Amino acid sequence: MSAQTTAIELFGQDPSLFTGDLLACLVAEGSSRPAGPGPGINRLLARVRETGDFKGEKDQVFLLYPELTAVAAAQPLPARRVLFVGLGKADGPANGLRERLRLAGGVVAKQAGTVKAREALVLLPRDYPLDAGEIAECVGEGLLLGNYRFDRYKQPKDDDPPGRVERFFLHRSGLAAAKVRKGLELGRILAEATCAARDMANQPGNGWTPADFAEYARQLGQKRFLRCTILDKAALRQLGMGGILGVNQGSAQPPFLVILEYRRNTKNPTILLAGKGLTFDSGGISAKAPAGMEDMKYDMCGGAAVLAAMRAIAEIGLPDVNVVALVPATENLSGSAALKPGDVIRHYGGKTSEIINTDAEGRLILADALAYGIATYQPQAVIDVATLTGAVIIGLGHHYTGLLGNDDRLAEQLIAAGDRAAEPLWRLPLGPEYRKQIDSRIADIKNAGSDRSGGTIVGACYLQEFVGQTPWAHLDIAGTAWGFTEKSYIPKGPSGIGVRTLVDCLRRWRPIQSVDENH
Ligand code: BES
Ligand code: MN
Ligand code: ZN
Repeated sequence: MSAQTTAIELFGQDPSLFTGDLLACLVAEGSSRPAGPGPGINRLLARVRETGDFKGEKDQVFLLYPELTAVAAAQPLPARRVLFVGLGKADGPANGLRERLRLAGGVVAKQAGTVKAREALVLLPRDYPLDAGEIAECVGEGLLLGNYRFDRYKQPKDDDPPGRVERFFLHRSGLAAAKVRKGLELGRILAEATCAARDMANQPGNGWTPADFAEYARQLGQKRFLRCTILDKAALRQLGMGGILGVNQGSAQPPFLVILEYRRNTKNPTILLAGKGLTFDSGGISAKAPAGMEDMKYDMCGGAAVLAAMRAIAEIGLPDVNVVALVPATENLSGSAALKPGDVIRHYGGKTSEIINTDAEGRLILADALAYGIATYQPQAVIDVATLTGAVIIGLGHHYTGLLGNDDRLAEQLIAAGDRAAEPLWRLPLGPEYRKQIDSRIADIKNAGSDRSGGTIVGACYLQEFVGQTPWAHLDIAGTAWGFTEKSYIPKGPSGIGVRTLVDCLRRWRPIQSVDENH
């Protein structure tokens, strides 16, 4: 390949006579020196600065199309700015079309944020090959998810407007009004629930404790169709939940098992959700390395997803399923009473477990919740959501949630829901070959294998010990709960993943029989 060379020539004329593709003007921030010799350019720059959108900050750009502006000048729009956002080709599978609308909504929110717009009007696309309700749902979702900010711990600066849109307006562009209204309402509920999960996760470990999980659920319990029960330490002792209590031993914060029930009709099947509510994971005595340990405040994202999903379910008012959510909540710290490697605990239901690694604590608290939830509510199916293993990040990176389970139809329903929500799932195997890795010499099982091989699968094998024959699916969100695929409507921190997938799955629930009748 020959080397490409690019010519650089000096331009000796007045820059305002330049007729080429792009006239770029390099302007230093805060500089009042003229940008170039032409008076036209200087006048233009002065007006651009007046908009407040361009100060000359490092890497900041402001692209103008003088010819197009002249066309509009005959009948100028009163809007301060006009933004065109691309949707790509209007073809391909519906899930891809849905996602493009969300992304475009996110782009609008992002742009609005950069120019500090307080109000924005969005025109829905005409002739887009989706149902009007879905168009409104996805655009609305993208707008609200993209507009999310967490600024609770930042002092407001007087001269700095929030950088968040206060009001979005949507123009239906001739689409059926009733459908648009309904779709928009659904999109709003889903986006707000997702943002609620992000809020819980963004809270630091000292701002979101197990007691805060309990308080949040208690508040939700006042909503129609919802009922909240909180099991405190004394109740956990009485029930013999040695997993939650064991993990909690090294912490000064009391543990809770938070229960939220959504009940519409006693004839409906009950679906059990369980979410890991580990409000901070230091690893305990098997301590984690310091680098990045602050991210372990996010170890409660499964619990957040499950409670946020309950909020959305109640607001939508799902008619055909009852749903029970369980969130075992505790910290994993190394206080002097902490669980030690070699200790043996006894789970709810009696199964004993030898602790090999106190950092494999998620499975310990979920085991109690799963066993208790199945014994108490006899659910038709169980779905747990947890930041369970670092290994899932090695296997799938940050773009797919790991899915494991004992029932093909449940797995299929979840994969379809994840595809519709653009929260993709990838199924991993389970089996006796892996289960061997948690055989213990002295207890029924042990909480970690002797090497790291198949870590995500081994973690799921542990949970499987507590679900019996109930159709069960496990979502390992360690890679996607934060740092999820970068998108216009997904922030860098917590993504709120799982909320929209769970709600979509439950909205379209197709009854399944138990594993026995499966063959
Ligand atoms: N919360 C972690 C898993 C995790 C790691 C989530 C990194 C997100 C990012 C979990 O409690 C844990 O520590 N798992 C151990 C299990 C091991 C000791 C068997 C792990 O993955 O290393
Ligand atoms: Mn851990
Ligand atoms: Zn953990």
